[in-house]
This record gives sequence, C-alpha cells and structure tokens, in this order.
Amino acid sequence: MSQNLPVTKRRLLTTAAAAVTAVALPAPFIRRASAAPMRIGVYLPYSGVFTSLGTKITNALELALAENNNKLGGREVELLKIDSEADPSKAPERMVRFIGQGAEIIIGPVHSGVALGMIRVLQNQNTTLIIPNAGAGAATGELCAPNIFRTSFTNWQPAWPMGKIMHERGARRAMSISWNYAAGQESVAGLRQGFEENGGEIVDEILAPFPTVEFQSYMPEIAASDVDAVYTFFSGASAVQFIRQYHEAGLDRNIPLYAVGFLTEGTLDGLEEIAEGLETTMHYADDLPLEANRRFRAAYQDRFGVAADVYAVQGYDTGRLLVHALAQVDGDTGDAAKLQAALRSFEAADSPRGAWRFSRAQNPIQDIYLRRVSDGINRYQGVAAAQVEDPGTGCAL
Ligand code: PHB
Repeated sequence: MSQNLPVTKRRLLTTAAAAVTAVALPAPFIRRASAAPMRIGVYLPYSGVFTSLGTKITNALELALAENNNKLGGREVELLKIDSEADPSKAPERMVRFIGQGAEIIIGPVHSGVALGMIRVLQNQNTTLIIPNAGAGAATGELCAPNIFRTSFTNWQPAWPMGKIMHERGARRAMSISWNYAAGQESVAGLRQGFEENGGEIVDEILAPFPTVEFQSYMPEIAASDVDAVYTFFSGASAVQFIRQYHEAGLDRNIPLYAVGFLTEGTLDGLEEIAEGLETTMHYADDLPLEANRRFRAAYQDRFGVAADVYAVQGYDTGRLLVHALAQVDGDTGDAAKLQAALRSFEAADSPRGAWRFSRAQNPIQDIYLRRVSDGINRYQGVAAAQVEDPGTGCAL
C-alpha cells in the first residue's frame, strides 16, 4: 500500500504536465541513422484562400533542394507534407504527428494563428521550426525560442514603412480594413504606428472575419467615412476579391487604396487595369534589379511554368538556409545547439529579395521596398526603409 502514494503523485504530475502542454508528445525517437533520409515536415495550406501561397513556397523550396541534388548535408531528403488548411485548431495535434513520424525539421506555416498553434507544441523542443511566411510577432517576440527561425517577416515589418508613404502622398485621415486575426491586427498596428509617427490619424478600423472573400457589405461604411486613404491587409484569393469589389463600388476613383504587398502578390493575373497603379510595401519586388533575382525568376518560371512571387522567394530562401546549415553540421540534426548555431550563421547575401540576415530573435533584418503595379507586375520604386529589424519585443534570446 505504501507504494500507492508515489504512483498517485506521479499520475497527478503527469496530468498537470499534459494540461500545460495541452498535447502529449510521443516518446523520443532515434534522430539519425547515419545515411537515412532526412525527414522534413512541411505544414502549408494546399486548400482554401491560401492555396497559391502554400504551393509557391513548396515549389521554390523544392527548387532550392533540387539545385543541391536533393540532398542536405549529404543526406537524401524526404518531405512529409500535410495540408494546414489554414486552421489553427488542427496545428498542435499535427505537430505531434510529425514528431512521431521522425521529422527532424518542420517548415510552416502561412497563417499566423496556425503558427501559434504549432509553437505551443514545438517551443523549446529539439525539433527545429522554420517559418517561411506567417508573420505573427510573437513567434520571434514573446514566444521566441532557440529552435524557432523565420525566413519571411513579422506583420509589423512591411506595414510600418507604409505609414510614411501614405503621409507623403497627402493622406492625413485614413481608415483600415483587414482580417480579424493576428496578421490583420498586427499589420494595421504597424501601419498605425508609422502613420502616426508622421502626423496621420487612423479614424476607423474594419475587421472582417477570416477567411471571408465577401467585402461588398463593408463598402458603404468606407464610402461614408470621409477619409483620404484606405489601408488594407488581405492576401491570396481574398485579395483578388477585395481589389475587385473596391473597384466595383467605385471607391478606387475617390479614395486611394494602400496595402502591404501581399495584396498584389500572385493576384494580378486577371485583374488587369483594375490593379494598375496600386502602391504597396514589401520585402520584394518582381523586377528587383539583382542578378540573383533574375536567375531565380528564370529558374522558377522554367520549372513550374508560372511567375515567382514573394512567397516563392521565402520558400527558396528557406531551402538555401537548410543547404547552408546542414552542410555545416554534416547532415547531423542530433545536436540541436550545433544545428541552431549553423542556422543562425546564415547570411543571405544573394537572396532574390536582396541581402538579409537573422536578428537576435531569429527573424530577417531586411530592406522594405516601395512597389507600384504597372503592366501587371509589382515594379520596384525604391527602398521605403533600409534593413528594417523587428524589435522582437519580449524575446530574451
Ligand atoms: C499571416 O497570417 O501571417 C499571413 C498570411 C498571409 C500573408 C501574410 C501573412 O500573405
């Protein structure tokens, strides 16, 4: 009977631990059987409004791997792909599944809410997470960890410089419309900061439920608002719908629309003159005058028969990062600290987006460009803000 107490106590502790993690992790597995293929979990949207984003990231990741004979640190690579469905609630359980399948590295997601769900399971684990899109500030802020890297942006980064541009264009009173989740809210907060620093004022914020593509019902409020600019964050299939519906309501003739570049990334085919002239800020421009960009776009077009965009660039840089880091550790992911040091040492000197490197919080420090849609492409207009670093507030790395 005297043995009952410790057993009960252990059970209580186990239950408490499970409540904290919310999901139970599978038993640790043997990480690397020397020449075994390296398993990489890829968690991206292959259905819903972000399908094209997930596809572009995956394509360009595979292009970067193919350019390295499909090997990392001398090992064959096996990509385990799961459709994230841009659904935050499914992410934790699927990360547990990846770990159970022996994923040594996980790449994903696109959606900020999904990123937070993944981090609940992966934070401070030995498995490395590389985020090739989702901009949730917390991932490289209060939830940062040595095993979490991002090759894309924080939602604040491209939004903040747009505030100055809008002010330079004469806007003083503006409103915003975006999705009601972390990415939309953080994007608007970044814009608001940049706009207010320059003397502008955001007088109204509309938040539409994710992933709606129906914006007509919001147009009367915008029309009646008496603002001199509208700022927006939409992306993928909904960006196409937003640009179209803003035009159909006749608003583009009276109230100029500004956005972070996601609005016009991969969305311009079929919009033709409706999108012409739109100005956006982003860490990429289609015609960025760099040899690395020309080479990348030609290789992407050649292999996939469609034009690259910012999502493709992020996928490609993720692949280049892996090539660099795994070469340094000879394909051995078993020593997490060594792998993390190799990842941190990556300098993207010849990225298609221009040079970038990791901040202390493991997020890119990068140039943000002003672009203008002209003849159906996002044309480079100049650097809106050079080497922008997200402050990584709350990150103790
Ligand atoms: C995000 O959820 O962080 C997100 C999604 C789509 C984008 C950009 C950011 O195009």
